[in-house]
Amino acid sequence: MNPRPPAWEAGAPPLSYARLWYILYFMEFPKLRPRRLRKNENIRRLVRETKLSLDDLIYPIFVRYGEGIVEEVPSMPGVYRYSLDKVVDAVKEVRDLGIPAIILFGIPEHKDEVGSDTWSDEGIIQRALRLIKKEVPDMYVITDVCFCEYTSHGHCGVLCEGDVHNDLTLENLKKQAISHAKNGADMLAPSGMMDGMVKAIREALDSSGFENIPIMAYSAKYASAFYGPFRDIAESAPAFGDRRSYQMDPANSREALKEVLLDVQEGADIIMVKPALAYLDIIAKVKEATLLPVCAYNVSGEYAMIKAGGRLGWIDEKRVMIETLLSIKRAGADMIITYFAKDVAKLINKGEIG
Ligand code: PBG
Repeated sequence: MNPRPPAWEAGAPPLSYARLWYILYFMEFPKLRPRRLRKNENIRRLVRETKLSLDDLIYPIFVRYGEGIVEEVPSMPGVYRYSLDKVVDAVKEVRDLGIPAIILFGIPEHKDEVGSDTWSDEGIIQRALRLIKKEVPDMYVITDVCFCEYTSHGHCGVLCEGDVHNDLTLENLKKQAISHAKNGADMLAPSGMMDGMVKAIREALDSSGFENIPIMAYSAKYASAFYGPFRDIAESAPAFGDRRSYQMDPANSREALKEVLLDVQEGADIIMVKPALAYLDIIAKVKEATLLPVCAYNVSGEYAMIKAGGRLGWIDEKRVMIETLLSIKRAGADMIITYFAKDVAKLINKGEIG
């Protein structure tokens, strides 16, 4: 038997070490010529490690009060807010492109201190859910579970002495979660970064007969300037201050793992990292740290930058979009929420990528 290198005595070497060892001891130029495998598109196809697929995509849909409204906001070209009478057609278009899921955001007519529209049977999300599940039953509908679009102050819960009160907000989150489930949501995605929110929602769902509805937790959600355009479209900018007392500090990564492990313990089914592009390291670490599927949110600011660069003619929008989504998948995302979903799906369907 060949003697094993000394570092192996303690057990199997990490993969990276084995690879390094192999390359150093067995292969070198001119025997080793990596360019052989890049010669033409056929061989590149064979050795490609990451591919974009329709199966990766979740498309965000914004539904608002009013009638006959299909409205674009300047900071997110190509993304629209739909009134209830228009939203079904929008969802059908997504379905017809082969995209498996949407995530729903609502803009209610009336906002109040606590965001009570979120748990009303006549709330904007509830009405949209009933309509969509009736007209497009084969679409998988995820709902964003939060308060910022629904509160008069634009914060993600109940205010107390100028800050969001964690445990009072949990009580309202439970009501909102049950109401979404009751009205047809297939999956709930709590995004408010309250401590204990996954546990509270899991318990509320289980005790109301919705033990089969999964939770996709926005676990590592950073206080990010990349949400700017979303707040234009969702009318959800905070009226004062910012969200740094509940969303994470962009400087931290160990804390992201703490948040993720807590959510796993609390019963999350899918873990989310958000934003995606400036946080690819977090996606990779989260993927290593858990066995749950990982979702990445390619957020509004990431979309807006690429659209703007493309419009100015400074970058090739299509190629930058593909490269960006590939990087998110390569980092470890199993699924991607992206405003590019329809654009990518069209390219995949035409056979241009994938
Ligand atoms: C909160 C929520 C936000 C986003 C998704 N859910 C906004 C925020 O936290 O301020 C941002 C998504 C994006 O920027 O695309 N309901």
